[in-house]
Amino acid sequence: MNATLDMLRIRRSVPPARLEGPGPSREELDDLLTIAARVPDHGKLAPWRFLVIEGEARLTVGETIAAAHAADFPDADAGRLDLERRRLAYAPVVVGVVSRAGPHIKIPEWEQVLSAGAVCTNLVIAANAAGYATSWLTEWYAYDRRVLDALGLEPSEKIAGFIHIGRPQEVPSDRPRPALADIVTRI
Ligand SMILES: Cc1cc2nc3c(=O)[nH]c(=O)nc-3n(C[C@H](O)[C@H](O)[C@H](O)COP(=O)(O)O)c2cc1C
Repeated sequence: MNATLDMLRIRRSVPPARLEGPGPSREELDDLLTIAARVPDHGKLAPWRFLVIEGEARLTVGETIAAAHAADFPDADAGRLDLERRRLAYAPVVVGVVSRAGPHIKIPEWEQVLSAGAVCTNLVIAANAAGYATSWLTEWYAYDRRVLDALGLEPSEKIAGFIHIGRPQEVPSDRPRPALADIVTRI
């Protein structure tokens, strides 16, 4: 019996609209982020950083997301704009994991990107182990320069994921998983 392994065997992502508060306290979130940052990191570059989006800031960023959508789709109706505005406003806290990968004399950029993915996975595992549910999403606005500017990302930085963290109202039934025989080669 191992609580973390038992959780990982059944863990499912829970969509943001099915996540509610209360979220982690400041102290608890700092602990989750400390754990999330404890990943393999070739060259010890820490090629990632966190954006904590909570409280009113979720809707402030949402205004930027909705404004970008409105600029691209002038015919968008009020319902759609409200959906865009509320993208980050369901879960009590959304953590943006920012990849700072770049050219390096010794460490391939690909490995730096993988390390940012590991940070996302660690945060998902840590939050679920602490009793929360999560969704690791990007969506269109993770690639939109106007939104990235509002979030303070440098041109060289990328969003590895927005990790929505909250209490699950309900957990979806499982989805099909790849059969081990299809993904394992023994050499
Ligand atoms: C980098 C990354 C970005 C993702 N972005 C989205 C997204 O924008 N929208 C979405 O529906 N799922 C996205 N997903 C998939 C979900 O995180 C999740 O894997 C999926 O809903 C299946 O849920 P599960 O974790 O229960 O298997 C993304 C996954 C990764 C790894």
